[in-house]
Amino acid sequence: MPVAAKISDSVGKSSWIRKMFEEGLRLKAQFGEENVFDFSLGNPDLSPPVEFTDTLKALIEKNERGAHGYMPNAGFDGVREAIAARVSKEQGVDLQGKHVITSCGAAGALNVIFKTILNPGDEVIVPRPYFVEYGTYIDNHRGLIVLADTNPDFSLNIGNIRAALNERTRAVLINSPNNPTGRVYSEDDIKALGALVKEHMESTGRIIYLVSDEPYREIVYDGIRVSSILKHCTQAIVVTSYSKTLSVAGERIGYIAVHPECVEADVLLSGLILSTRILGFVNAPALMQRAVARLTGVSVNVNIYKKRRDLLMEGLKFAGYDFVKPEGAFYIFCKSPIPDDVAFVAHLQKFNVLTVPGSGFGGAGYFRIAYCVSENVIQRAVPKFKEALEALRS
Ligand SMILES: Cc1ncc(COP(=O)(O)O)c(C=O)c1O
Repeated sequence: MPVAAKISDSVGKSSWIRKMFEEGLRLKAQFGEENVFDFSLGNPDLSPPVEFTDTLKALIEKNERGAHGYMPNAGFDGVREAIAARVSKEQGVDLQGKHVITSCGAAGALNVIFKTILNPGDEVIVPRPYFVEYGTYIDNHRGLIVLADTNPDFSLNIGNIRAALNERTRAVLINSPNNPTGRVYSEDDIKALGALVKEHMESTGRIIYLVSDEPYREIVYDGIRVSSILKHCTQAIVVTSYSKTLSVAGERIGYIAVHPECVEADVLLSGLILSTRILGFVNAPALMQRAVARLTGVSVNVNIYKKRRDLLMEGLKFAGYDFVKPEGAFYIFCKSPIPDDVAFVAHLQKFNVLTVPGSGFGGAGYFRIAYCVSENVIQRAVPKFKEALEALRS
């Protein structure tokens, strides 16, 4: 076999998102792009804010000496300081530049963290439904994913997380606003989770972490705020990227921020910096680091996503679907009208509507609709969603 058995096996089981992407290409070639309603990918379709392109132009023109060379593996000092100032304001806890490590997106950051903290067989508890790549990131570093069901409204079920904790637990990984549910976890739940981590550390004497993956932090609606994880847990590590807030997913830029009071924070930070290097990232992209450091507070126009969410919710309700109102990100996790979500997604495809089965996120019985598409696509897709449901009922 030309590749390792594990990779060969994984290639064979390629993710649902990937399968739908390929199906989309096939349908678009057959029916024409405008006649396919592709809600399968969470790939932001908005252009980056004008400030982003202006900043890039200015940085290129400046052409500073050494601007594109190697740097310390954690990133440029000035960039780390600028990000630390931003995180301190956002999370209400004072960080210095040394607590921040720039990363190749949130995906790179999570791999760096798991490489650093996991011994073989260590467990990472993840509330379900969840972003499916977490399983592979944890497995990459010989850890085990342990799923803890959320409540029916997708809020955290602290009791289930408590029940999953044991002496092999190394981390709890949360994601709010959530992909695929759009749920934003409440401040009370974050507080309870922080208390649980503290209690577990005290009772077992083992160091564990609360890892908070927050790439959608700024994409929230109706005045909802994402509560601070650092304020409620000294063992917290925040992960984020600019992929969604600046619509620059292809540029691979994000960061890790560690709570200054984390147990032996300096040792953890040295480990994270080493992992950045030895995983082959070496450092986050230089130009992007300097760009995002200058763009504190800049983001895409979230109102555009809100309008789409409202339009889609209204359309789905009209068509007869059942779902929990998403509070953030750009996904609706809709109840499948039949128990078999894979069969329902295949049924929707017959109407040229592409979504992803909830099973792909550990959420059987649901399907995910990503609304990174224009209002026009949403408007034209609503009758298709309705027809699909009616066809099923008749
Ligand atoms: C919840 C979640 N975490 C991490 C990532 C990876 O983000 P990035 O592409 O910025 O590395 C994504 C991407 O969709 C995501 O939805």
